[in-house]
Amino acid sequence: SEYGKFGPLVGAIDEGTSSARFILFKANSCEVVVSHQEVLEQHFPQEGWVEQDPCAILEVVTTCVARAVEQLVALGGNPKDIIAVGVTNQRETTIVWDKYTGKPLHNAIVWLDMRTSSTIDKLLDLVPNKTRNKNYLKPLCGLPMSPYFSAVKLRWLSDNVDAVKQAMKRGSCCFGTVDTWIIWNLTGGPNGGKHVTDVTNASRTMLMNIETLSWDPLLMKFFEVPKSVLPEIKSSSEVYGHIAAGPLKGVPISGCLGDQQAALVGQMCLQKGQAKATYGTGCFVLYNTGDVRVTSSRGLLTTVAYQLGAQSPPCYALEGSVAVAGAALSWLKDNIGLIASAKESEALAERATESGSVVFVPAFSGLYAPYWRQDARGVICGITEDTNESHIVRAALEAVCYQVRDILDAMNEDCGIPLQILKVDGGMTSNALAMQLQADLVGIDVWQAAVSESTALGAALAAGWAVGGAGGVPGAELVLPAARVYRPRTAADERDLRYRHWKMAVERSLGWEL
Ligand code: G3P
Repeated sequence: SEYGKFGPLVGAIDEGTSSARFILFKANSCEVVVSHQEVLEQHFPQEGWVEQDPCAILEVVTTCVARAVEQLVALGGNPKDIIAVGVTNQRETTIVWDKYTGKPLHNAIVWLDMRTSSTIDKLLDLVPNKTRNKNYLKPLCGLPMSPYFSAVKLRWLSDNVDAVKQAMKRGSCCFGTVDTWIIWNLTGGPNGGKHVTDVTNASRTMLMNIETLSWDPLLMKFFEVPKSVLPEIKSSSEVYGHIAAGPLKGVPISGCLGDQQAALVGQMCLQKGQAKATYGTGCFVLYNTGDVRVTSSRGLLTTVAYQLGAQSPPCYALEGSVAVAGAALSWLKDNIGLIASAKESEALAERATESGSVVFVPAFSGLYAPYWRQDARGVICGITEDTNESHIVRAALEAVCYQVRDILDAMNEDCGIPLQILKVDGGMTSNALAMQLQADLVGIDVWQAAVSESTALGAALAAGWAVGGAGGVPGAELVLPAARVYRPRTAADERDLRYRHWKMAVERSLGWEL
């Protein structure tokens, strides 16, 4: 064959909130050949502010690519066998740069950043009839007004950063989410880089019309965003451009999806009614609703799931977003020192056979779905004399599971057909206790993916499909075995009783923003 010992390969760049990785998959079997991961630093310049250096984002990505390619060569593989690369990324994080110099005009404002609470306040005043209705723009973009989304962050930048204001006026400002920043730079930057994004990432900006899949004039006007700063919206699976330099020079970038949508694809949730939860820094449940845009009455987002080819129809999803999942464990590790690693949480939490009455609501960045309360802050309640560190660690794991229950309850109400199986992936799925708790607290089977890197796999599949090289055609039957199924071991009344405590604790987390 024309290929070396591993056959054709497809690469995926997965640039998440806490780390980046580059994984090479065999195009035919989707087996992982090599991967490399690098930690990405976050900066907290003020309370509630979260920033990253856009150049550091590029650096970790190029390091991951270089190291993984070195590993491939060491194994006797040939980088020339890489037929395509897909990009997947932390969503909503907002970057602005100068299109002539390529230099960032400010640090990236990370999705978790809360600085725009006051921007939201100001924008709510613009809602007609003084209703301050958070859902005023939802019919257009599928999203409620929240500091979470990119347009609000972009508006903050243009209101508060002179360099951004000036560049916008001059027409030299480029805006992008992390996918856009990476693709623009890899395809040449100021020397011919492609200024593009895909429908899934664009659907998180509050600027794209969820029906037409183009930038919406009304939304641009509402947020005062000039069209000149916006990238071109493409499908999730097509050739956007070719890598301009480095070990992958000449390779097409042909897949692009926000990380949560990529995980949905990587879990092969390509049928209406299928859903997955990905446990990363946050936790995100996406429910495939096919060609229907379901409008939630319970605080879920309507979002684009994927569009596999420029001529293909889009597929939609309902999303329940949880801001803090793995981040609660990082907090216990870095800020409180209760655990030395996220891994240690399992053994420690095992020691408390139950969390006692302790409930931990890690509302560090307010509460997202289904509450959307930016005035929420973290609380730990129900503490007794017997409470020790193991109860608190266990309560942190349970908090993630309770938040998923909040979302599944909302989804069941919005869709009318209760979900039977929850497919799961991401870091916390290696914690068997957490996954058993998840099944116990939601009362349905929890299927752990065989390929734990569902996000990267989704991007690789999209990239491979575009060049006709991986997993056959879009939607082809790539049957992924479940590595492990967790079945609920609780009765409904026990589940509901525990859940009531969670709801009480959530009440206590509200109203803290001064
Ligand atoms: O919406 C934010 C999400 O895309 C971040 O994902 O995996 O970095 O928690 P993750």
